[in-house]
This record gives sequence, structure tokens and C-alpha cells, in this order.
Amino acid sequence: MVRTWGIWISAILFFFYMTVWTNQTEMALASASVPTGWTLFAILTGLALFNIRKKFPAFPLVNSSSWYVFHVAGGFLAIGIFWLHIGSFWPVGLYERCLAILFYLCTFSGILGLIIQKLFPLRLTQSGAEYIYERIPSEISEIQKNAQDLLLACTRETSRDTLATHYLETLHWFFQRPRFFFSHLFGGEKSAHWIQQRCSNLERFLNAQERGYLRKLFALADVKRKIDLHYALQTVLKSWLIVHLPLAAALMALIVWHIMVVHVYFL
Ligand code: HEM
Repeated sequence: MVRTWGIWISAILFFFYMTVWTNQTEMALASASVPTGWTLFAILTGLALFNIRKKFPAFPLVNSSSWYVFHVAGGFLAIGIFWLHIGSFWPVGLYERCLAILFYLCTFSGILGLIIQKLFPLRLTQSGAEYIYERIPSEISEIQKNAQDLLLACTRETSRDTLATHYLETLHWFFQRPRFFFSHLFGGEKSAHWIQQRCSNLERFLNAQERGYLRKLFALADVKRKIDLHYALQTVLKSWLIVHLPLAAALMALIVWHIMVVHVYFL
């Protein structure tokens, strides 16, 4: 905890130092672009090295939780230094704008990933269930099988096929595979309303015995809803780095080219 605060406070102090230094340099009519540029490059290289650090978890230099804090604080510091370097939020020149777009996309995906990593595990715990991502397809087919067994038993016992027909027309779609992905992602209740509406529409056409089966079907749908929630949140938790990492790689490649061009043509 103390170390985390230390890293954040150092990043903030460093940013203030760089802001003051840049202002003084510019007031003395000198250019601060080259030093701020190299500072930014050093920070971004440090951020990009996170990938290598993750590939060697046993690397003794700094433990992985400190790397994580360094990375996040360094990411925010990079945004500040980037603004100092270009002197605004949006640069002039086509190549510089492409670089800025990549930089913003990369930092935005990092911030989004950070929020996802903080919020989604909490929401998964609050759901009161635990599902291993790789086992979700087999969990769904198991529920689907249980639902079909229930309908067979109902038809056999009551000699009526109202519930089974309704299942085939509407609920079968729901039980087939994960549904309501985006609603679950944003904490919506679309799936709960959907199931509730389908079941209550049907209830008045059923006799007392069939209603018992409908209640069991409803309970299965509730379990399926939790699995869908886990599927949506875990998919995003597992895959946001697929966006962040290539953006970081592209950003570093474009920066190296930018440095070469600046040193060859402008300095
Ligand atoms: C405010 C800005 C940023 C934030 C909040 C941020 C956040 C994150 C987070 C939370 C992770 C995942 C850590 C983990 O699960 O262990 C990560 C990974 C990573 N980030 Fe960033 N990031 C930012 C900017 C950047 C920038 C600018 C670069 C590139 C120069 C970068 C490169 C990387 C790399 C290479 C990884 C490791 C990916 C892997 O191999 O798994 N990030 N970032």
C-alpha cells in the first residue's frame, strides 16, 4: 500500500516538475520538445516492457504487483507528458495525428481495461455463482438437457404439450447458447425481463400441474442467466488485452519512425 502511494506520488511530482521545467524553457524561448519527447519515449518503453516482464514472472528485479502499479501510474504520467510534448491535446500534421490517435486509443484501451479489471470480478462475485469459462459450453448443454427432460416429463405426466410447444417456439432460443451479451456487460436486466414476460404470458394457459413444471423451467432459466452473465464478463476480461497489446506495439513502431524522421530532417 505504502509502495503504491509512493509510486503514484512520484509520478505526480515528476509531472509537476516537467510542467514547470517546460514552461520555464519555453519562456526562455528555447524548445522543450526534444527533452519531453525523449522522456515520453523512456516512459512508453517502460510501459511496453511490461509485456516482457509478464513473460518472465520469476524475474527477480521488481515484483509483479509493483510492475502493475508502475504501469498504470506510468500510463497516466505518459498522457501528461504527451500533452507537454505536443503543447496541446491535438497535434498538427498528418503523421503526428496518426500517432496521437494511436496514443489515445492505446491509453483509452488501458484505462478501460483497468476499469474492467476492477469492476467485473466484483460483479462476478456478487452474482453468487462461480463458472469456469472453458466449461461454460458444457454447463449450457447440461441445462438445455435438463430443460428438455423436464418438458418430456411434463408432457408424459399431464398428457398436454402446451409447455413443450411454447418452449420450442420461444425459450429454446434462450437455452441454446449464451444470450443478451451486451445487456449483461452493462448491468442490464433485459434477460430477466425477457424470461419473466415469456413465462407469465404462458402461465394462464397452464393447469396447476404444468405450472409446477413451469416454475422448475423458470429456475433453470435463472441459472442460465447467471451463466450468460459470467460468459459476457469473463469474455471481456480475457480479451481486452487483445486490443491493448497490438495498439501498444503499433504505437511503439510509429514512435521509433517518428524519432528517426525528426532526427534526420529537423535536428
Ligand atoms: C493510462 C494508460 C494505461 C493504462 C491504465 C494501462 C493499463 C494496463 C493494464 C491494466 C494492463 C494489464 C495488466 C495485467 O493484467 O497484468 C496493461 C498491460 C499492458 N500495457 Fe498498458 N496501460 C496504459 C497504457 C499503455 C501504453 C501507452 C502502452 C505502450 C506503450 C502499454 C502497454 C502495455 C503492455 C505491453 C501490456 C502487457 C500486455 C501483456 O503482455 O499481457 N500500456 N496495461
